[in-house]
Amino acid sequence: MIDIDRIRADTPAVARLAYLHNAGAALMPTPVVAAMKQHIDLESEIGGYAAADRESDRLDAVYGSVARLLNAAPDEIALMENATVAWQMAFYALPFRAGDRILTAEAEYAANYVAFLQVAKRTGAVIDVVPSDASGELDTSALERMIDDRVKLIAITWVPTNGGLTNPAAAVGKIARAHGIPYLLDACQAIGQMEVDVETIGCDMLSATGRKFLRGPRGTGFLYVRRELLKTLEPPMIDHFAAPWVSRDQYQLRDDARRFETWENNYAARLGLGAAVDYALDIGLGPIEQRCRLLADRLRNGLASVRDIKIRDLGRTPSAIVSFTMDGLEADMIVTSAAAAGITIGASHPSSTLIDAEVRSLPVVVRASPHYYNTETEIDRLIDHLAGLAPR
Ligand SMILES: Cc1ncc(COP(=O)(O)O)c(C=O)c1O
Repeated sequence: MIDIDRIRADTPAVARLAYLHNAGAALMPTPVVAAMKQHIDLESEIGGYAAADRESDRLDAVYGSVARLLNAAPDEIALMENATVAWQMAFYALPFRAGDRILTAEAEYAANYVAFLQVAKRTGAVIDVVPSDASGELDTSALERMIDDRVKLIAITWVPTNGGLTNPAAAVGKIARAHGIPYLLDACQAIGQMEVDVETIGCDMLSATGRKFLRGPRGTGFLYVRRELLKTLEPPMIDHFAAPWVSRDQYQLRDDARRFETWENNYAARLGLGAAVDYALDIGLGPIEQRCRLLADRLRNGLASVRDIKIRDLGRTPSAIVSFTMDGLEADMIVTSAAAAGITIGASHPSSTLIDAEVRSLPVVVRASPHYYNTETEIDRLIDHLAGLAPR
């Protein structure tokens, strides 16, 4: 059982805000903020290099924390400045030739898809979108049928940025493994709201961010790369940290995932990320996932009875990202009116998941994303607020 009172005491802003924008950037708990502040204070007292030296054990421990979160090993983790850079480092390290196929899903995130397009333009590789099944999830039978020798990557988003979907990441992993195809998973919106176990999922690479459901600071993220694959991947860009300059005409790539990092980093943010991971692990991802689903279900059930609201979510086991539209009211107007009532939600544009938005003719959708620190009362406040907006 989650001790909601304690958790909320660690999250002072909940006294002022019904904060339901965790798919955007969650509220950081006080230990996360304290870890960052302490390090900034230390940097201002003794200088940035000395501060990093003094805190080197704690900084190293961040790799261990992220590894524990994923059921991976610390040498399989690279700490990055966001999920996009983490994903890019993995994707652009993969070699593609004309005719190679990249398989992805309908609700793939825009940042990833434009990178597919660029690589397709550069190399002649082809992007093939796996259709969704009747529930809206990636159709694993269709995926299986699409596999051939030309498929060089399966890259999907587990929990898309809107649309409530949870794609069958582990079922995709089984198929990828059975055919020996590298599997890159965007876990940006999954991390911190559900259990993430790279062994169970069977992914080879996984990217995630700090600021969303993990409740870490902005400007943080990480990349997991399975050890066996790591050795074969040359990062698309390197510096002398990733690959020490060992002789006049030679560099030597590090043999851990930190070959994807660079020398300079925001150490305060890294410590904040580590504190966020430890905070989530301390509560337990199982109970977090359960409570996220409970609150999201309550929201969906409540919204279903509000006139003029259309819930725009898909999938059999929807995530804590609740997307909807309201006839006659623009999404941005709904977000603004909720903000005026002390309720923080967001909007999500069709261009962030263009294919899914086209297939379903989606306009801008409102995105409400509860987290375990929210209460049932806050969910009901949003439902009541929306019911009050419905034109009579
Ligand atoms: C599914 C998904 N992938 C990737 C990203 C990018 O994450 P970041 O902003 O940390 O680079 C987002 C951000 O909203 C996202 O929703």
